[in-house]
Amino acid sequence: MPAVHHILAVSAAAVLLALATSTHAVEFAAPSFAASKISRDTLVARYDDNLAFKSPYANVPKLAVPLSAHHKAKLLKPAPQLEAGGPAAKFLHGVASGDPLENAVIILTRVTPTAANAPVTVQYQVATDAGFSAIVKQGAVVTSDDVGYSVKVDVQGLTPATTYFYRFTVDDQVSTVGRTKTLVSNTADLASLNMAVVSCSNMPHGYFHAYEAIAKRNDVDFVLALGDYLYEYDLPGYKPVGGAMPASRNPVPAKVISNITDYRMRYAQYKSDPQLQLLHAQKPWIVVWDDHEFADNAWVGGAVNQDDARDGPWGPRKLAGMRAFHENIPIRPSQAVGDEYRVYRSFQIGNLVDLIMLDTRIDGRAEQAKGDRASRQIMGAAQEQWLHSSLTSSKAKWRILGNQVMFATLPEKLFAWELPITADAWVGYPKPRQALLDLLAKNKISNTVMLTGDFHGSVASDIPADGSGKVKANAPAVMTEFVGPSITSASPAQDSAILNGLAKPVLGLANPSAKFIDLYRHGYMFVAVTPAKVRVEYTYVKSVKTLDGGATAVAAVLETASGSNRITTVQ
Ligand SMILES: [Fe+2]
Repeated sequence: MPAVHHILAVSAAAVLLALATSTHAVEFAAPSFAASKISRDTLVARYDDNLAFKSPYANVPKLAVPLSAHHKAKLLKPAPQLEAGGPAAKFLHGVASGDPLENAVIILTRVTPTAANAPVTVQYQVATDAGFSAIVKQGAVVTSDDVGYSVKVDVQGLTPATTYFYRFTVDDQVSTVGRTKTLVSNTADLASLNMAVVSCSNMPHGYFHAYEAIAKRNDVDFVLALGDYLYEYDLPGYKPVGGAMPASRNPVPAKVISNITDYRMRYAQYKSDPQLQLLHAQKPWIVVWDDHEFADNAWVGGAVNQDDARDGPWGPRKLAGMRAFHENIPIRPSQAVGDEYRVYRSFQIGNLVDLIMLDTRIDGRAEQAKGDRASRQIMGAAQEQWLHSSLTSSKAKWRILGNQVMFATLPEKLFAWELPITADAWVGYPKPRQALLDLLAKNKISNTVMLTGDFHGSVASDIPADGSGKVKANAPAVMTEFVGPSITSASPAQDSAILNGLAKPVLGLANPSAKFIDLYRHGYMFVAVTPAKVRVEYTYVKSVKTLDGGATAVAAVLETASGSNRITTVQ
């Protein structure tokens, strides 16, 4: 969702209203330890244990990264030959973990070699203590420029509900220590689960204070990231509001990114941010992409911000965005065969939560505001079938949907014109939207909560079965939705409290079932799940524009009680 759409949204809101009425020096304490010399004698370095070489898909050879000819012979030789050489390398982009399961977790880093074009052997260790006296897993993998020097390992054989520490080494260079945690057993009787929900972090728009605030909490089990981890624009393409940031946060490279080199450079820039590094190091993340990991308002066959003359064809650009995402995000590559771009997936978290992660962006979305609106698809047929069967077969107390674009009611048209901002949301895709609501109503599936990104503003709503903005006696609410604020990206009200005051009532008119609206602040949602309720705390930072603006405050607390499918405002 770009700035121009926000301006359009505010303009449209104003019309409707009239009709109706440096790297900066953030200090943080990373875990410290004495670097120990790890013997490589008993380790075997393998390129095929580095999942980055299977990115994005392990079982779809045509999408696997081909080894370049100049590396292939070397990499396929017995590992000791490789281990004997290899250049020095540094860890400049932090560490990350993600997609935790009850017995496995993905760990990830990226190295920067001192000699160009040479493969690097990287060792990893996983321990139950920060001092690495109790190492439970270790190994070594090879990385190279074929995969942007990414290292991604699926560490398996772990114990459920256990905190682990991990680190990587190349000779005497040691990475930051990461901390992660496995999920509880699928059959565990789980009393509570806490997550921090984030989306839309634009480096040129502000400091990632919300990331640092989450990292410093002790009560967050994992981070749920709903897309727009980065943005593809050059600086003029999505100008900051409320003042420019230091030039060190300007987009790198200084262009609209469109090929694998560009996307890798942009991820490297974001991953140089100390607040982002801190949160990755402290919590496992469960991530899905939205449009800007590719280009603004992407759909399966293109994007609004796709210019063939400037960017080359969409197909290779989309694959470049996909590869860079998988190289830099701690997501487990899909094992699906014949479902080539799949990132939709689910996590069974004890008997409390089935977390269902959607891809409404790349998997099968039809172009916005084009063709027959009544039959437009927002997901591929296979994903929609998977979603419906996931919901009907779920036995958990709660079904939580990790979703990209807003589901709640929005104005569909201004006269005959489909508004760009709403045509991109679920209301622009009425058939799959109503099909989901019908499924929940007909099957009496209760306790479904949708968590949403993309909008850059906070909107908490009851979702009636008929898809309208009003909960009626014959169409009771079947779901609740909590749309989260952006980490930094310019808000619908352009970060302005005054514009927020104007736009809020307009959105309230379009969506009378909204229980909370805030269209100008930045931060995250803290979501606490128990068998009795889902509690959402909208948590905002003081300012994303200043280094000292990181203080947070909870502006609203909303709850959905079990069985109610409605939101109660607590505070
Ligand atoms: Fe965004």
